[in-house]
Amino acid sequence: MTPGLASALMPLIRGMDPETAHGWGLRALRAGLVGRDRTPDDPLLASTALGLRFRNPIGLAAGFDKDAVAVLPLMRLGFGLVEAGTVTPRPQRGNPRPRIFRLPEERAVINRLGFNNGGLDAYVARLAALRQPGARPLPAVLGANIGINKEGADPARDYPDLYAAVAPHADYVVVNVSSPNTPGLRDLQGEAQLAAILGAVSARRATLPRRPPLLVKLAPDLAPGALPPIVEACVAHGVEGLIISNTTIARPPDLRGAHRGESGGLSGPPLLAASTDMLRAAFRLSRNRLVLIGAGGVDSGATAYAKIRAGASLVQLYAAFAYDGPALVGRIRRELAALLRRDGFTSLAQAVGVDAFARHTGADAVARPAGAAGRDREGRGGEQATEADAAAPAGGTDRGVA
Ligand SMILES: Cc1cc2nc3c(=O)[nH]c(=O)nc-3n(C[C@H](O)[C@H](O)[C@H](O)COP(=O)(O)O)c2cc1C
Repeated sequence: MTPGLASALMPLIRGMDPETAHGWGLRALRAGLVGRDRTPDDPLLASTALGLRFRNPIGLAAGFDKDAVAVLPLMRLGFGLVEAGTVTPRPQRGNPRPRIFRLPEERAVINRLGFNNGGLDAYVARLAALRQPGARPLPAVLGANIGINKEGADPARDYPDLYAAVAPHADYVVVNVSSPNTPGLRDLQGEAQLAAILGAVSARRATLPRRPPLLVKLAPDLAPGALPPIVEACVAHGVEGLIISNTTIARPPDLRGAHRGESGGLSGPPLLAASTDMLRAAFRLSRNRLVLIGAGGVDSGATAYAKIRAGASLVQLYAAFAYDGPALVGRIRRELAALLRRDGFTSLAQAVGVDAFARHTGADAVARPAGAAGRDREGRGGEQATEADAAAPAGGTDRGVA
């Protein structure tokens, strides 16, 4: 099969219960049934960030391959980065099913999986197998996303242990403190708690022979004023990047999908504006000190481009992949390259952050003319933070989640 044919089968898949469909998708990938994208990468999309070389900036977000069972087949679909996880120290079942819901009217998803995964040992063994001596180099950058168990967790112990366990095998590591489905997890984004975790991780990191870049993944529902101290804590503890953002507990009032009242994290197009606004605020605050990965509602070249213009050096997606299937990756790469050329950019890096100081949402940003200047090698701008940076990145009502 080719990725195009696999995508043509998506309407069939969408007729199934979402979690069952996801399981079949992973099985088909592992069995080599989904094929690979053989289009050569457009050199315009290549970049260096986090000290890593990316063939293109389109990534698969965490949660699709929680147990790292299909990393190589996923990379072969043409992603520039694939993030496996979230993995927790011990295996856990997660919340009772059903726990993934489609909102087809919005092409959105609500999930309250609750970090169902097979645990760290099995995960590390799979990552290690991908990197065996003699194995071919991986075709994309490999991220490892780490989290804590629902029961018996000690964040200042667990995150350093998780980092140390995946460090020999991952190109970058993401501390996930932002999933809405593990009680108390998002509180770890508070200044004191985050500083304690990052301090412990960075102390452990200093003892390791291999220290892949460390990123923190944030929620789009932070309280007003919460972002500046988070950025500073990350910089102070040697964090190299942020992923903005995880799913939201907010429910935009115009959501139509019948499942809109389900508790959990919402992803897909309804998350685009809030997550892109927060990304833009983080870009202004980070002043060239952090690499940003934009996630939330990326489903086209235009939405990927809006994230890049808002300050993302790389983007990730999940919901759109669940709706459109593997052919989406090639389409986004083609569309993004065309948009960059249309606006006169000769490298991806030039476009990073060009809209970061404009006061409008990501969706509007697509139509704006280019004007990049003063970027560094990794595509990050060097402007100063403004007062507006202290503003709330995104609003929303806490619906209370499982
Ligand atoms: C079913 C599902 C499971 C997810 N699981 C995780 C996870 O385990 N860890 C994580 O950091 N993010 C997880 N996410 C969040 C995504 O990585 C991403 O940040 C979010 O969905 C926004 O991107 P999107 O709008 O393209 O889906 C999950 C999302 C979905 C839809």
